[in-house]
Amino acid sequence: MAAAVVTGGARGLGFEIARLLAQRGLAVNVADVDEAGAQAAAERIGGSAWGSALNVTDPEACREAARAAAERAGGLAVWVNNAGILRTGPSWSHSDADRRALVDVNVHGLMNGTIAALELMRPANSGHILNVVSLAGLAAPPGETVYAATKHAALAFTVGTLYDLRESGCKGVRLSAICPDGIWTPMLYDKVDDPQAAPSWSGVLLQPEQVARRAVELLDSPRPVVSMPRWRGGVARAFSAAPRLATALVPAVMADARRRQKRWGRKHAGDGRGTASS
Ligand SMILES: NC(=O)c1ccc[n+]([C@@H]2O[C@H](COP(=O)([O-])OP(=O)(O)OC[C@H]3O[C@@H](n4cnc5c(N)ncnc54)[C@H](O)[C@@H]3O)[C@@H](O)[C@H]2O)c1
Repeated sequence: MAAAVVTGGARGLGFEIARLLAQRGLAVNVADVDEAGAQAAAERIGGSAWGSALNVTDPEACREAARAAAERAGGLAVWVNNAGILRTGPSWSHSDADRRALVDVNVHGLMNGTIAALELMRPANSGHILNVVSLAGLAAPPGETVYAATKHAALAFTVGTLYDLRESGCKGVRLSAICPDGIWTPMLYDKVDDPQAAPSWSGVLLQPEQVARRAVELLDSPRPVVSMPRWRGGVARAFSAAPRLATALVPAVMADARRRQKRWGRKHAGDGRGTASS
């Protein structure tokens, strides 16, 4: 048996990824800043899963989590950088602390996890690092601008690190970035009435189980970058490639996204999933 670490695994997408990795026979560390949530999630998963406190903004804590997981299960096979936070609003509207938190968790956290995993995977010349990015890593929507900036950095770091590995002669370690559209997780539960979060509803709102399945498939058929759904990745890249046209289209795209968001809100108002996001 080998180990997998899933950051931010206490709930949402991370929980679903952790569950599928455990089903594949990996000993999974559900690692989350919410320690009680991580332990409860590991209990729900069962088998060899265990929960632990991990704040991904702490590089030494990431190293320790990687070492502990490898010692416990005889090697580190998979590290999933899933932990992330979302704040919405125009780029100038965040508090300094919120802007810094977005960069700390979504960028430094992902870098810390990647580097901690590579310290064990490079010498072993094996292992797979899955980085959860977002379509916001391919195009920057209004209202989620700072979040999108962090996800662009996360994507550049993932792909660039893969190039660094191959350039250095390391062929056995894999890195993949998954860029999903909006996902119906606690991250969005309290954003249904937030017009600034409308881009999350602009395309296809995915279920975490769907995205987790696609993420875990990457272990068998590795690809550097996968967007979900695929066509939305194409749309996002086209938007990015034509910023003048995109600027002109933004009001219509946002108006349509807000209509979809309202429709979703009406449909899901009473479904009991209205937990606040972090
Ligand atoms: N929900 C979406 O619409 C969506 C879309 C695309 C990508 N994503 C990305 O998917 C990933 C998972 O998001 P989610 O929707 O499941 O969100 P979520 O808010 O439901 O879960 C995020 C988890 O990360 C944990 N976390 C937050 N800060 C942390 C830290 N410093 N250290 C360790 N854990 C921390 C939280 O405690 C929580 O358990 C994130 O990277 C997010 O950006 C989400």
